[in-house]
Amino acid sequence: MLKSKIILAMDKPLSYQTLKEMENEIYGIKVGLPLVLDLGVHKTRELLNDLNVEEIIVDFKLADIGYIMKSIVEKLSFANSFIAHSFVGVKGALDELKKYLDTNSKNLYLVAVMSHEGWSTLFTDYIKNVIREISPKGIVVGGTKLDSITQYRKEFTKITIISPGMGSQGGIYGDAICAGADYEIIGRSIYNADDPFTTIKTINKIIEEKVMNCKGAIFREK
Ligand code: XMP
Repeated sequence: MLKSKIILAMDKPLSYQTLKEMENEIYGIKVGLPLVLDLGVHKTRELLNDLNVEEIIVDFKLADIGYIMKSIVEKLSFANSFIAHSFVGVKGALDELKKYLDTNSKNLYLVAVMSHEGWSTLFTDYIKNVIREISPKGIVVGGTKLDSITQYRKEFTKITIISPGMGSQGGIYGDAICAGADYEIIGRSIYNADDPFTTIKTINKIIEEKVMNCKGAIFREK
């Protein structure tokens, strides 16, 4: 099997046993605010602490002044990556967060294009400038907007692109990767399935086959 391209979006608890069973089938776990509100920080840390996955990404879509964003991420030391909104801008906000994360060897992802229908493209130029200035490890581009993935991939050749919206929101497994994303984020289709482990294995196979066959796929410069 190729290395998994799936980031499991955990917005709901799954048992430790299920997660342990799945760890070889996923690249990483994206931890949503609903999960942490359900379990609390302590239990979330306990649940995820000893899992063998590449990345634990906390997705609170941070959008505040630098001081507050730093106070939030320092309480979530179990994670190695964090997602923030681009629209809060650089000075006094994302510049301070990025500096803090760099100092602590943690990664930043910025939201570039959201997956839902009502996301406005009015701020695209502004968002791209913020991404250029901050130079995060990666960006989030909705897997329901394949043209946007390709456009961002061409403009930001070295950045990691992670794409939510696959499955439950209508994105087709493998399409985001074929358009230029590095990983597909999948939540409800997995954690609400009767058998999450079998489901994730099936999705991995679908993605693998699709990626082997997609012509003209734009892959990131290494
Ligand atoms: P589902 O259940 O729809 O979960 O597979 C999707 C997960 O991804 C998050 N999400 C987004 N995050 N930009 C983001 O940064 C987006 O456009 C976006 N759309 C969905 C959502 O919070 C959930 O955890």
